[in-house]
Amino acid sequence: MASVTAEKVQEVREVTRIERIGAHSHIRGLGLDDALEARAVSQGMVGQAAARRAAGVILEVIKEGKIAGRAILIAGQPGTGKTAIAMGMAQALGSDTPFTSIAGSEIFSLEMSKTEALTQAFRKSIGVRIKEETEIIEGEVVEIQIDRPATGTGAKVGKLTLKTTEMETIYDLGQKMIESLTKDKVQAGDIITIDKASGKITKLGRSFTRARDYDAMGPQTKFVQCPEGELQKRKEVVHTVTLHEIDVINSRTQGFLALFSGDTGEIKSEVREQINSKVAEWREEGKAEIVPGVLFIDEVHMLDIECFSFLNRALESDMAPILIMATNRGITKIRGTQYNSPHGVPIDLLDRLLIISTSPYEEKEIKQILKIRCEEEDVEMSDDALTVLTRIGMETSLRYSIQLITTANLVSRKRKATEVEVDDIKRVYSLFLDESRSTQFLKECQEEFMFNEIGESETMETS
Ligand SMILES: Nc1ncnc2c1ncn2[C@@H]1O[C@H](COP(=O)(O)OP(=O)(O)O)[C@@H](O)[C@H]1O
Ligand SMILES: [Mg+2]
Repeated sequence: MASVTAEKVQEVREVTRIERIGAHSHIRGLGLDDALEARAVSQGMVGQAAARRAAGVILEVIKEGKIAGRAILIAGQPGTGKTAIAMGMAQALGSDTPFTSIAGSEIFSLEMSKTEALTQAFRKSIGVRIKEETEIIEGEVVEIQIDRPATGTGAKVGKLTLKTTEMETIYDLGQKMIESLTKDKVQAGDIITIDKASGKITKLGRSFTRARDYDAMGPQTKFVQCPEGELQKRKEVVHTVTLHEIDVINSRTQGFLALFSGDTGEIKSEVREQINSKVAEWREEGKAEIVPGVLFIDEVHMLDIECFSFLNRALESDMAPILIMATNRGITKIRGTQYNSPHGVPIDLLDRLLIISTSPYEEKEIKQILKIRCEEEDVEMSDDALTVLTRIGMETSLRYSIQLITTANLVSRKRKATEVEVDDIKRVYSLFLDESRSTQFLKECQEEFMFNEIGESETMETS
């Protein structure tokens, strides 16, 4: 029980670490300098200096890896870069620190309970850095000799001669080893390692003694020294997995393939308990350490009171990640209750939060963000058009104006232009309504729509 091999993890990693592109694909970090001051425009980030700096301070704390169970709330109006800042933090953390991003409403699905969904999100955000000692054979290939069986059928057999500067040994080869040696085109003069447990072969490069063959090898060839000492070595490998990955890999009903499809279903609590105690054991033996990662819950006001009390309790655990939440709500009802609370978050949870607030952008910042988005989407735009689009951004919303980039570009391409001009912007501005014009339109034509409640309830905010 509770096993993880480096190889399995690698396979899983490659598939599950798909990053969402789209609205925030231009964000490459927080754009801070060494003193954690926000650079005016850097790593795709513009303005919002105080919030970015605050996020940077939190990052430092996370990177030290010593503090867990803290929670941060990013609060501010729609389109002030709350999600963008969280994505910037994710980018800055690097791939060894787990970062999970969910929207509050994702918790409510039919496939699993709210608490299961939250538990999975938490466990995806906690890394376990595992140290393993493996035995390897490392040496320079002197000769590979493969014998076909005399009858023409049956398994191939062969011999592999490896050497270090001090010794030389001949190994018998089985069918599988022969196949992987052939597949990797291993030949005399290569320096290779063989993992004794898995049989995995890794080519490190060509031996320097073969440097004369350079012309035949091409410029990509990497030359390495012939290893010294014994052929057999012990080597320490370190890899980081999340608790959720360990859960799934060890969950008998699912197997690690579930991680590929995302179809992990509910995980039995016994499995989690076993894994927790195994990890605790590994920690005591010095084989593993916990890497608290980040769980980001966007639109956190969508959670209800039960979810909030789950969060409160989960943060107390000694294996808790850093929780970052974002909301654009002011004083509003906590879902599942009759009570109002700032940001729709219960007071007892609010009390443990550090709050970062974001503020609306100035014209020149909007312009800069739009410019970056044009570059990101490979759209050429004339200065005048950008100025008009900036005005639209100021008067409607940043997000609406970002949307117009793609559509205006399409329109300009249709008229075979290479640049988006003012007229293209005007065109799409009249084609697609922004929120306030749409509301205006609805007010004017209420009778023609079903379910009209204007005047009774507030209009929906965009988030
Ligand atoms: N400071 C910023 N620098 C660069 N792009 C930004 C910045 N703030 C917002 N954006 C971009 O503007 C759009 C709206 O911002 P978003 O982060 O979704 O706002 P919020 O989450 O606060 O509602 C997104 O495409 C986002 O990437
Ligand atoms: Mg957002």
